[in-house]
Amino acid sequence: MTFSDKAVAARAAALAAATPGDWLSLVLDHHLQIESAFVWVRAAANAGQRRLAQKWLGSLVIAHGHAEESVLYPALARRGRSHKTWHMELAALEMLDPLTRTHSDRLEQFQASLLHHFREEEGIWFPELHRKQTALEQADLSRRYREEFERRLGHDRAA
Ligand SMILES: [Fe+2]
Ligand SMILES: [Fe+2]
Repeated sequence: MTFSDKAVAARAAALAAATPGDWLSLVLDHHLQIESAFVWVRAAANAGQRRLAQKWLGSLVIAHGHAEESVLYPALARRGRSHKTWHMELAALEMLDPLTRTHSDRLEQFQASLLHHFREEEGIWFPELHRKQTALEQADLSRRYREEFERRLGHDRAA
């Protein structure tokens, strides 16, 4: 998977706009963690390891999507943005034998659509929202985004 110059520039600009610990920096950090989780799924030496890595990927994707959905997208909704969760893609992967070609093709498609989605968020939607917020609004969204992410991740790992 390669990144276009435009995608790299957009991420660099979003990183520069974010303050460590605020919601935008957390989102970018979670996008990076999700991208590395794909690397771990592919690097797994056997089916058991691959399932484990895939479970971690799924937990991150769900917790991140949940936090965005409950905290950030309501703020974007006024501008007509809707959000995609990835339950279907994750469920489809779980049903496949992780050592087959079908699985790796499906993983590839999932990663491509997720990365496309990250590019939209990082390139326009989130930096625009971040720019327009007051310090108070940013602090509120940052606290809530962090809480929702951690709560969902904890819930998923305890299951
Ligand atoms: Fe998202
Ligand atoms: Fe995201």
